[in-house]
Order: sequence, then C-alpha cells, then structure tokens
Amino acid sequence: MEHRFIESTNSPDLFFNALPEDWQEGIVPFWQDYKHTAKIYVLESAGEVLGGGIVFSTVSPDTQPSYYEEAQRWFDQGYLYIGFLWFSEQHRGKQLGSKWLHHLYDLLPDQNFWLAIDDFKLSAFYQRNGFQLIHKLELEESNEWILSMECAPGEELTTGRMQKIFVQA
Ligand SMILES: CC(C)(COP(=O)(O)OP(=O)(O)OC[C@H]1O[C@@H](n2cnc3c(N)ncnc32)[C@H](O)[C@@H]1OP(=O)(O)O)[C@@H](O)C(=O)NCCC(=O)NCCS
Repeated sequence: MEHRFIESTNSPDLFFNALPEDWQEGIVPFWQDYKHTAKIYVLESAGEVLGGGIVFSTVSPDTQPSYYEEAQRWFDQGYLYIGFLWFSEQHRGKQLGSKWLHHLYDLLPDQNFWLAIDDFKLSAFYQRNGFQLIHKLELEESNEWILSMECAPGEELTTGRMQKIFVQA
C-alpha cells in the first residue's frame, strides 16, 4: 500500500480524529501543553490517516506520576519518548506500525528513544523493531515495562535494519 509519513504537529486533529475516544481523552485535553515540545507523525494513504504516534521530549500525559523520575532520567540523557502509537484496526498486522517506527529512525538517525508498555505482549513488536527490554516497573495501578532503542551512529541503522526485518517477516 502506498503511504506517506508526514508530520501533523500543526494539524493535530488529523491524528486525534482517527483515534478511539478513550485515546483521545488521554491526549486532546493536554495537547496545548505539549504542542511546542512534542511532534505528531502519521502514515496516510490516499488522504486517509492509517495511524500514527507522538514523539515527546518531556514527560507525557500517559506517564504515571509514580515513574516521573525515571521518565525524567531518560529525557535528561537525551532520549525521546514514543507514545500514543496507534493504527486503525483494519490496518493492523500489515507492518505499518513497524514502518512508522523506521520512518522515524530515518528522520532522526542519531536519536535514541524510550517508551513504556503496560501489555508485555507488545514487547515482541518493539524488540523486532530495534528496542530492548530494560526493566519491569511494578506500580500500584499496573505493571509497566520500559524499553529503549539506541541509535548506532555510523551503522546503517534504518534501511538496512528494516530490510532485514521485512525479509524475515
Ligand atoms: C501496536 C501497533 C501500533 C502495531 O501496529 P501494526 O501495524 O499492527 O504493526 P506491525 O504489523 O508492524 O506488527 C504487528 C505485530 O505486532 C503484534 N502485536 C501488536 N499488538 C500486539 C499486542 N497487543 N499483543 C501482542 N502482539 C501484538 C502483532 O501480533 C504482529 O505480530 P506478527 O507480525 O508476529 O503477527 C498496533 O497493533 C496498534 O495500534 N495497537 C493498538 C494500540 C497499541 O497497543 N499501541 C501501542 C501502545 S505502546
């Protein structure tokens, strides 16, 4: 499927309107506070937003207060946080989520990233896309797993790695 990876930070509704209601509630009311420090990227095809995600440079609204300090440590080390990665149900399983990540790696080849998941099963998806599992946080409300991806300057990080992944898939 032909698609384009585009930044929609200045047209956030492009992404927000595609999100399910409970995800909208987690970001739309807070976006004013983030619009200068976070960036939204979407994959679109023939005018339809298939999915997207948000790259944060500060503690995001989906970070639980109990690990703010850990979040801040990652930002202090220059890592960006990937949050709200979401693809519409009918487009899942077509490697679009992986492509979104690799477009981001292409765009920011020298950048390290981190993220948190509350469903351990998702770790395989991120590990296949270059992330490593750092540790599990046992929080009162739920468990979270922290993953990070370090760029390897000088190594052909993006296209080469993506080809390997897609040949294996
Ligand atoms: C996670 C997500 C963005 C992946 O996008 P995608 O386009 O389907 O990703 P890909 O096609 O590149 O990879 C899909 C793989 O991830 C796996 N996967 C995705 N979500 C999973 C989950 N919750 N549990 C287990 N496996 C999952 C799929 O089973 C598939 O594995 P397979 O290739 O072995 O069949 C998409 O599934 C999604 O939007 N999920 C709902 C929102 C969400 O959970 N976002 C992540 C927040 S941290």
